[in-house]
Amino acid sequence: MERKKMTVLTFQAKKERGEPITMLTAYDYPTALALEEAGIDAILVGDSLGMVVLGYETTLPVTMDDMIRHSQAVRRGAKTPLLIGDMPFLAYQADVAEAVRNAGRFLKEGGMDAVKLEGGREVVATVRAIADAGIPVMGHIGLTPQSIHKLGGFRTQGKTAAAARRLIEDAHALEEAGCFSIVLESVPEPVARLISQRLHIPTIGIGAGPGCDGQVLVTHDLLGLFDRFTPRFVKRYAELHAEMKRAFHAYIADVAAGTFPGPENSTPMGEAEWTALLAELEAAPANGRGPAALDVAESQVVGRRSNI
Ligand code: KIV
Repeated sequence: MERKKMTVLTFQAKKERGEPITMLTAYDYPTALALEEAGIDAILVGDSLGMVVLGYETTLPVTMDDMIRHSQAVRRGAKTPLLIGDMPFLAYQADVAEAVRNAGRFLKEGGMDAVKLEGGREVVATVRAIADAGIPVMGHIGLTPQSIHKLGGFRTQGKTAAAARRLIEDAHALEEAGCFSIVLESVPEPVARLISQRLHIPTIGIGAGPGCDGQVLVTHDLLGLFDRFTPRFVKRYAELHAEMKRAFHAYIADVAAGTFPGPENSTPMGEAEWTALLAELEAAPANGRGPAALDVAESQVVGRRSNI
């Protein structure tokens, strides 16, 4: 059965029906296509791109142009899921008008349906301006990787009563400002559950327990493709880094042994065409030199061959 395109309305309807929302990240066409075919609800073109694809230590160096290029690739592979483009560091923090323009680029150039940005009360005016421009906004609170230096590392947030209260207030402020959904990253399970119960809009958890309305993971973590570290909250469903290495070793060994390419990987040529080509080259070499020159060149080739 053909699936209907996911929208912010179907997202909301899933929460109301109590059906968990599924979301994963993608940064390229083949992953987006596989997610489309697997039936995922939403794809986040996350700025985790910076770490798991571009090899940076943090997400901070990722640019708007990086995000747009990868959003376009994901859009080509995925038609049905809700597509969310992640606003990178400094695309929205400095100026509200610039934030609206950058959010708009995700829809106009990247083919996304919505954007996500990090932060609580401090981004409320920005969220409101983007939403007022007709662009659906997903919030992101708890562990916000763009503030890694302020937070002092990738650590769980909202562990004290005071910190949890601030998170709850932030979640309400974002809903009030017009977010259609909020990511809760690395917060204690009871706090995430409480926020999910109190909000009308769906929460999407990552390291926030099963009480959220949906779940997201970084696809490279889930597939075992990112070898640097795996957060405790990740469940690995495959070991693709090891599998890639196995395939690369096998290829290198085949080429070294001369067993690849085999006849099944090569294109043969009809005997008549091959004979005609040799005859033509004999009469008028392709390099424009005459038959005498060809003789010399041929003798060099033969000489080189005989050296092998
Ligand atoms: O960039 C990203 O992949 C994210 C998810 C971890 C939610 O923000």
